[in-house]
Amino acid sequence: MKRDFLHITDFTRVEIDEVLELSVRLKKETREGTSHLLLQGKTLAMIFQKPSARTRISFETGMYQLGGHALFLSPADIGMGKRETTADIARLFSRYNDIIMARVFDHQHILDLGKYAAIPVINGLTDFNHPCQVMSDIFTVLEHRGHLNDLKVVFVGDGNNVAHSWFKLAQRIPMELIIACPEGFEPDENVVKETQETGLSSVSVSYDSYSAAAGADVIYTDVWASMGQEEEAAERKKIFKPFQVNTELMTVAGDQAYFMHCLPAHRGDEVTDEVIDGSQSIVFDEAENRMHVQKAIMVYLMGAA
Ligand code: CP
Ligand code: NVA
Repeated sequence: MKRDFLHITDFTRVEIDEVLELSVRLKKETREGTSHLLLQGKTLAMIFQKPSARTRISFETGMYQLGGHALFLSPADIGMGKRETTADIARLFSRYNDIIMARVFDHQHILDLGKYAAIPVINGLTDFNHPCQVMSDIFTVLEHRGHLNDLKVVFVGDGNNVAHSWFKLAQRIPMELIIACPEGFEPDENVVKETQETGLSSVSVSYDSYSAAAGADVIYTDVWASMGQEEEAAERKKIFKPFQVNTELMTVAGDQAYFMHCLPAHRGDEVTDEVIDGSQSIVFDEAENRMHVQKAIMVYLMGAA
């Protein structure tokens, strides 16, 4: 039975730990220059309906390092659901390729790719979630803290795709997770509810980043206007202004707090230069780890470890 990675919760806690262990090994080998051609001769089809730097570069480079080949398919190449149905695209790619990674707008499209493809499908971001990002984030937290015990994560900003994946992670790894956001920008209430019902983590929504931040291990933020929301950017800038991550907020959080951001960052908006370039920031470790963790996810789904 083929496996997909469309949500963090597609993996059990044990499987998440196995992927993180595999990521440690692949990162070490990459750093040492030891080759690991675990996907030799395999091909990855990468479908992008939205722009990307990190996701494209990390998957393409990672696949090459594993001995495989990655194909980049832009919106002009694939008329997802327009030129042909998502189901037919899934069936077609299953005849040529060994694995699919897709970045799409509509979450239903990634679900359909998973349903109709005979090969593993990886979610490279949808309007709903971004599981590869948050798997890499938790790997980065583990790397820096050395453990995941007594973890407090404060997500400051829009209750959107990246935040949703943090909630899904909190269904597998115990943590105190607070999202501090303006009213009207809360995460999907079903995601919050299902996370609360899982009962593993303490999760809550706050409208005050300063009271939420105290004692946090991670202060996390994301852009105020995501891809596809460009027309709302000016209005959002005003609404989100009190939720900027700046030195004042990091001081309230404390010296133990790491600053994280999925990137790309809009410096001066959701984060100041001082914070993103400061000593508590681990954003480029986080970005690098996308590649190591996604290599592990591909190898794991292909049963090639
Ligand atoms: N964080 C992230 O997914 O970056 P890209 O949009 O550049 O891929
Ligand atoms: N929330 C952002 C994440 C980018 C990686 C977006 O969807 O544009």
